[in-house]
Amino acid sequence: MSEFSLEALLGSRRGEDLDLWARTINPQFVRVLRTIGFDRTWASGEGAYLYDADGTRFLDLLGGFGMYGVGRNNPRIRAALVEALGLETPGMLALGTTLLPGLLAEELIAAAGGRIERCLFTSSGTESVESAIKLGRTATGRTRVLSAEHAFHGLTLGSLSANGNEEFTARFQPLLPGFDHVPFGDLDALEEQLRREDVALFLVEPVQGKGINLPPDGYLEGAQELCRRYGTLFCVDEVMTGFGRTGRMFAFQHLGLEPDLVTVAKTLSGGYVPSGALLMARSVHEAVFDSMPHAMSHGSTFAPNELAMAAGLATLHELREQRLVEQSARLGERLLELTRPLVDEFEVVRDVRGLGLAWAIEFGEPEGGGRRTYRMIERAQRGLFAQLVVVPLFTKRHILSQVAGHDMAVIRILPPLVLRDEDVEEFADALRSTIKSAQKMPRSLTKFALSAATAGVRGR
Ligand SMILES: Cc1ncc(COP(=O)(O)O)c(C=O)c1O
Repeated sequence: MSEFSLEALLGSRRGEDLDLWARTINPQFVRVLRTIGFDRTWASGEGAYLYDADGTRFLDLLGGFGMYGVGRNNPRIRAALVEALGLETPGMLALGTTLLPGLLAEELIAAAGGRIERCLFTSSGTESVESAIKLGRTATGRTRVLSAEHAFHGLTLGSLSANGNEEFTARFQPLLPGFDHVPFGDLDALEEQLRREDVALFLVEPVQGKGINLPPDGYLEGAQELCRRYGTLFCVDEVMTGFGRTGRMFAFQHLGLEPDLVTVAKTLSGGYVPSGALLMARSVHEAVFDSMPHAMSHGSTFAPNELAMAAGLATLHELREQRLVEQSARLGERLLELTRPLVDEFEVVRDVRGLGLAWAIEFGEPEGGGRRTYRMIERAQRGLFAQLVVVPLFTKRHILSQVAGHDMAVIRILPPLVLRDEDVEEFADALRSTIKSAQKMPRSLTKFALSAATAGVRGR
């Protein structure tokens, strides 16, 4: 008999990460990492920092696509998980109830407020969206689902059908019937669709993650009003924006909205355990779970698992105790204050935008010098200039960020909310000098850009 030791196992295979991933999980992904120089061996993480095997510290502004709201390896969430394991709670009953899921549901409902009175747990963002689509259709007796162009709601088939980006959907046709898209920000287009009174739900991100697109003034309020008028459920996808990301607990609270459905995930479990939820008005829930034979109309085996619930409760506590929502608002302001001047400083910078700690910078063709090279780079692959900034930010300045999406010269960051003022200053300073160098387009960079384009490097 040999004892199982994770530490011994990891020690005996140290350094194999990339090769093993390429052999067993996804060789193309590893190719991408190697092409752009992101092929590090990672040793540890703490808060907003990552450390590679050489002990080099990286500032993690990507936060695992925004799931590390409370920081990597948050000691208080970890302690709650260790405590939960030690308590030897009964675990999931399947046919029975335990206390932890109810406690977390109660807190989530209170945090969302307004119409929200019920909580259905899931294990990811896309499952929360799937639940909204499925329950929303049945509750209204309608089949159509409306979402916004350039929306991102996840990659399983229902969520993908609501996705407004061709690069994700084109190769997976046919998607589900009854899904249509309207331009984000266009209330007339929305009303034209809703007027038919056959739309079950309008699914919308309060801030679009793909390019950190902020809603025009009055858009979301108008959309909610139209949904009410035409009997459509108003579903706000807070998977990315929830739990303080935009400087409020939920982004819809900036505008005093009262959605019928709210999808959450990412930061909910402190980055430790897959977890998500669909928060909904009681009327939606009661229309679907309307009798004892329908008591188990929707669910998933692992969804209300005890570790996810313990992590969720500890995360909500941490957000409150450390005042991380307020910190996100404050640091977001500071970030804009330091980076907005880049629009005037560099012709190539078109826009800097953000809300809380969801932030983006957009590039565009400069008028004067550098125009020809910019065009050449963009011809190889649209949006490639952004990669010319993301790569040296990582390799030279040790800052992790990403190109916001396919076909767009936009860099976005979704850092842990535990970021410090110095980190924001360090980023602004590194960004300024990296754009300056990228604008000059030294030969080596141009060569890199073309080979990256050939490798088809693009943001998720
Ligand atoms: C707004 C939004 N909805 C849904 C999802 C899907 O979440 P998950 O990756 O957990 O399935 C994401 C993920 O990035 C998201 O940003």
